[in-house]
Amino acid sequence: MVHLLHTFFRAFIILYYIIFVDCQKFLAGAYNVFYIENKLYYIAINVNKHFYIDLKNVSLENETIYSSQWLNIAKPPSYIKMSHPFIGGNSNKKLFFIDQSLDVLYVDTFNTKLNKWEANNSYNGLPNTKFLLFDSWVFNETTGISYSFQGLNIGVVMFDTINFAWINSISNPQNLFPRSSFLSKCIPVLLSNCQILYIGGEFSNIHKYQILMDRILTYDSIKDSWQFNNTTGKTPEWRKYHTVVLTSDGRIIVYGGQNNLSMPATPSLTVLDTSKIPFEWSTPTEENSIGRLIHHTSVMVKNYMITAFGTNVSEKGDDLDNYNIYKLDTSNLSNYKWSLLSNYTLQSISPFPNTTIKPNSEVNNASFNE
Ligand SMILES: *[C@@H]1O[C@H](CO)[C@@H](O)[C@H](O)[C@H]1NC(C)=O
Ligand SMILES: *[C@@H]1O[C@H](CO)[C@@H](O)[C@H](O)[C@H]1NC(C)=O
Ligand SMILES: *[C@@H]1O[C@H](CO)[C@@H](O)[C@H](O)[C@H]1NC(C)=O
Ligand SMILES: *[C@@H]1O[C@H](CO)[C@@H](O)[C@H](O)[C@H]1NC(C)=O
Ligand SMILES: *[C@@H]1O[C@H](CO)[C@@H](O)[C@H](O)[C@H]1NC(C)=O
Ligand SMILES: *[C@@H]1O[C@H](CO)[C@@H](O)[C@H](O)[C@H]1NC(C)=O
Ligand SMILES: *[C@@H]1O[C@H](CO)[C@@H](O)[C@H](O)[C@H]1NC(C)=O
Ligand SMILES: *[C@@H]1O[C@H](CO)[C@@H](O)[C@H](O)[C@H]1NC(C)=O
Ligand SMILES: *[C@@H]1O[C@H](CO)[C@@H](O)[C@H](O)[C@H]1NC(C)=O
Ligand SMILES: *[C@@H]1O[C@H](CO)[C@@H](O)[C@H](O)[C@H]1NC(C)=O
Repeated sequence: MVHLLHTFFRAFIILYYIIFVDCQKFLAGAYNVFYIENKLYYIAINVNKHFYIDLKNVSLENETIYSSQWLNIAKPPSYIKMSHPFIGGNSNKKLFFIDQSLDVLYVDTFNTKLNKWEANNSYNGLPNTKFLLFDSWVFNETTGISYSFQGLNIGVVMFDTINFAWINSISNPQNLFPRSSFLSKCIPVLLSNCQILYIGGEFSNIHKYQILMDRILTYDSIKDSWQFNNTTGKTPEWRKYHTVVLTSDGRIIVYGGQNNLSMPATPSLTVLDTSKIPFEWSTPTEENSIGRLIHHTSVMVKNYMITAFGTNVSEKGDDLDNYNIYKLDTSNLSNYKWSLLSNYTLQSISPFPNTTIKPNSEVNNASFNE
């Protein structure tokens, strides 16, 4: 019991650090990104600047810069916690926000189609952890189930976004590690064969474990089982605060992040080919490099990785916040090319429209960008 309290106490210190220190320091970095129906949604963790850009009429193939205004989404109710939302819903058009205190758990949603918040949705079951807020999710568009790895002794917590139900994995990877730990900063990616790979990152609570790059921790979401998979090719440096996206032909693109000495991890851009057995690392040429980012966001749109925000870290320590949105053409397997997508400024996004948002779906139809 004492050990448990101690554990929780330490967890809170770390949570406090994550929310109030870590993110404040990287204001431009505290964003989540989602691509839904031609729109890129940027959801900020701790600033009230949530917006979207519409790529409907934008050709990514040419070098045209998207200079239109970034548009507000409807103002979220103030009590909604913005960290690590995930996609879901019947036609994958909702963002889910979990708000969890020690004894109550709320599931709030933002309907991107209606530009509407729905707070305090009812649900079935419960997750078997009290620290849901802090880990990233991956989403199966076919089943509507989202997955989040919650700890070595806990395993994966799932939320069925169609039926609003919590599901807990039976298995956990505790047998693969010497001791227990939770609060992962592991970065998940869901392959088309239902395997979830954790690429880099670490467990930071109780015991510190880096998730190594040459031994990929893998969760099979069909069999509910865990394993390590060794890789071939030149292993890139271990990193955290990087991004991971998947191309349609099974390449995992890892970008940025910092190594265990808090320096930019090398190489900045590295690729794991998951169509090969064993998985194979390679380092393509990076044309027009945009620098070395940490705490940025990335998402795949067609053949492009769209990367935004974060901190541009230099060897000298004169780090700069990045407010631009870039695109990386990944279609040439040996030569990946960066270009600017948009440099409209966050500062010029208009303030939120002044709408009243009530819980339990009695939401006004807030209009865009008034
Ligand atoms: C896209 O182009 C169509 C036709 O020109 C126009 O009606 C529409 O408003 C444009 N949409 C956006 C988001 O720019
Ligand atoms: C780039 O794409 C835009 C939008 O589709 C189009 O208006 C423009 O003509 C294109 N420019 C070039 C050089 O192809
Ligand atoms: C999603 O789940 C379906 C049904 O289990 C499965 O066939 C499909 O491979 C999964 N998709 C991904 C991306 O894992
Ligand atoms: C993976 O690598 C580890 C450490 O190098 C080794 O002990 C293990 O046998 C390898 N596993 C497989 C399946 O090759
Ligand atoms: C950093 O990583 C390198 C290589 O993985 C390892 O040899 C070294 O001990 C690590 N250093 C720290 C401070 O963890
Ligand atoms: C991953 O490891 C499992 C279990 O050892 C093995 O069956 C599978 O073939 C491996 N996959 C790859 C891509 O190495
Ligand atoms: C990052 O810094 C480098 C060197 O100072 C610069 O060349 C690059 O344009 C910067 N990139 C971004 C995204 O700010
Ligand atoms: C890929 O890029 C390399 C290096 O720039 C170039 O030589 C090659 O022709 C490109 N391949 C294709 C298919 O465009
Ligand atoms: C955005 O980039 C374009 C092209 O580099 C430049 O002409 C423009 O001044 C930039 N806008 C801002 C706000 O920096
Ligand atoms: C959510 O619903 C519960 C139970 O109906 C209620 O006690 C609580 O006040 C509601 N919370 C919000 C933020 O509306």
